[in-house]
Amino acid sequence: MSADALFQPLTIGTLASPNRIIMAPLTRARADEDNVPTAMQGVYYAQRADAGLIVSEATAVDPLGMGWYRAPGIWSDAMVAGWQGVTDAVHAAGGRIYCQLWHMGRLVLPDYIGGALPIGPSPIAGEGETMAPPPEGYAGGFLPMKPYVVPREMTQADIDQVVAAYGRGACNARKAGFDGAEIHGANGYIIDQFLQSKTNRRQDGYGGNVANRIRFLKEIIEAVIAEIEPGRVGLRVSPTSERKGMGDDNPGALTEAIGALAQHYRLAYIHLIEPIASGFMEKPDYPVMERLRAVFGGTIIQNGSFNAETAAQYIASGKADAISFGRPYIANPDLVTRFRNGTPLASANFDFAYVGEEKGYTDYPAYQDA
Ligand SMILES: Cc1cc2nc3c(=O)[nH]c(=O)nc-3n(C[C@H](O)[C@H](O)[C@H](O)COP(=O)(O)O)c2cc1C
Repeated sequence: MSADALFQPLTIGTLASPNRIIMAPLTRARADEDNVPTAMQGVYYAQRADAGLIVSEATAVDPLGMGWYRAPGIWSDAMVAGWQGVTDAVHAAGGRIYCQLWHMGRLVLPDYIGGALPIGPSPIAGEGETMAPPPEGYAGGFLPMKPYVVPREMTQADIDQVVAAYGRGACNARKAGFDGAEIHGANGYIIDQFLQSKTNRRQDGYGGNVANRIRFLKEIIEAVIAEIEPGRVGLRVSPTSERKGMGDDNPGALTEAIGALAQHYRLAYIHLIEPIASGFMEKPDYPVMERLRAVFGGTIIQNGSFNAETAAQYIASGKADAISFGRPYIANPDLVTRFRNGTPLASANFDFAYVGEEKGYTDYPAYQDA
């Protein structure tokens, strides 16, 4: 099967994309120690500017939602200025870039927030461990790992603050020159914690049935589209993922509710993580893509363990409108050209995936004919 389907132009909301190859968000931890984006990030994203759309790495909207050493934020003027350098570099290279708006909720270690407890919908800890901030005298390399903690159950005031932080993040993303924003509702972070039944045990209007569990997301969508037109706003979700202690009683019904909500607000796209093979993430036993299609009329971007061939098949058969690629983008800045020419892909050195400087970040070359 040819890869032609990948190279058909696509209108995503109000954005014209020249192809259907999307760069998935990838946290690479190359901001500075104050979470301000660096010039190195501009170089990296500009190298990948021929993607139909770049979705930035997860970008924290609030200090309380930031628990990742050298991940970027978007709550301060310095961060907006840093991001402006990145978006300028991408635009100069002819590309399009959305900001992925993020809050980690219960997955923030107290070490990142002055010893305070992180916040979450219910006092249930994430499963597993995550990277702690660097110890005294840190000289690079892998960071120590620590287990997640039991979060403090959010009050109405906490909820209102996070919703407002998303609105401010969207406003700042627009000021920083992003072409749009993606609401990060996936991968066990705060929105997902409200959506999935295993992590949301609230007794108030934000917990219990699905209509209540999507209320937090609904308020965040409203805050974001007050700043950026809905045709430039996407939503990323992973309703079948059980990583980090997630789980839902009925992911199909949850997906339909999310899709109907996104349809109601005419969001540009839903970016569904539903891997077609297990590896980095598990392939779900009961896929939900078709249920999403039935209720959502916007663009559907699917993600997870695709290659050029499987991506083209999914698009040609109408299952998805576009496919995003994560790991392949680490070592292949020219992924679009490689897919077009059928040239082999380089493999990434994961030692430098989440930590480091230019090495393993901006030094992967484009393909050269032997
Ligand atoms: C190094 C790395 C960083 C990631 N960072 C993010 C992130 O910031 N936001 C997000 O939504 N997903 C993140 N992901 C998940 C990817 O976007 C994607 O869902 C995953 O890699 C599966 O797609 P793939 O099979 O094409 O790699 C990350 C994955 C990797 C490998």
